[in-house]
Amino acid sequence: MSRVVLITGAGSGIGLASARAFAAAGDQVVCADLTLEAAEAAAEKIGGLAGIAMDVTDESQVVTAVAEVVRKHGRIDVLHANAGVSNMKPAVELSVADWDFNFNVNAKGVFLSNREVVKHFLARGEGGVIVNTASLASKVGAPLLAHYSASKFAVIGWTQALAREHAKDGIRVNAVCPGFVKTPMQDREVAWEAELRGITPEQVIQDYVDQTPLGRLETAEDVADVVVFLASDGARFMTGQGINVTGGVYMT
Ligand SMILES: NC(=O)c1ccc[n+]([C@@H]2O[C@H](COP(=O)([O-])OP(=O)(O)OC[C@H]3O[C@@H](n4cnc5c(N)ncnc54)[C@H](O)[C@@H]3O)[C@@H](O)[C@H]2O)c1
Repeated sequence: MSRVVLITGAGSGIGLASARAFAAAGDQVVCADLTLEAAEAAAEKIGGLAGIAMDVTDESQVVTAVAEVVRKHGRIDVLHANAGVSNMKPAVELSVADWDFNFNVNAKGVFLSNREVVKHFLARGEGGVIVNTASLASKVGAPLLAHYSASKFAVIGWTQALAREHAKDGIRVNAVCPGFVKTPMQDREVAWEAELRGITPEQVIQDYVDQTPLGRLETAEDVADVVVFLASDGARFMTGQGINVTGGVYMT
């Protein structure tokens, strides 16, 4: 029987590639994003089961959306908690609004979506799998992204703790840590970084490539393939891990 896979932030970039990869592997994919339009458009693009609106920062929306997926589609077997945001500034110029924006989506969004899906896993009693999208910036502090980095380090702490608490319930929780991935988020970051560093966008991109031993920008598909693996039985003895998918930018 094919699995029901719920993906947050499925409307763009890594989430969309992950949705496509799960669908190609034969899973029934529910695409969630900020708006129903974005979610439904993603589901249509990848031949998914459905689209659903879920702002991961809004507790009542997350609770309602997870319950609705279970009611309509019978169960959730896999959650890819992927929704994330960033903005760039020198650390001393960060406002509380910058901090809250990043923490609300990147850390609180992972907490809320994971919590609701784990409750469902426990009620169903058949285990389950979660893959959270963390970051290279979960492993090393990223300049001009101090608040983002802090929110992504939080994802690793949460992932490890949840994995330890629920291993006994047959629930595995891992994270992927992507590097410099060509997505709309990266396009925005390249423009900000060029401005902040006084260099051209092309120089920023060259700098990313120069830092990458495998010698190119990462694709969303490079990440999606590892997400699908982590959610598969091939990864049955892996939990609490933050797997680097960076082309070698970060190696421990
Ligand atoms: N692009 C990179 O280089 C890179 C590197 C490391 C980690 N990441 C992480 O990968 C994930 C996906 O990033 P991406 O590059 O595909 O970005 P993206 O901007 O292309 O896509 C992010 C998606 O998340 C959705 N989203 C934003 N706020 C949301 C909210 N409150 N509720 C629900 N959905 C929301 C957006 O609508 C969008 O569809 C993020 O968690 C990001 O931090 C990206």
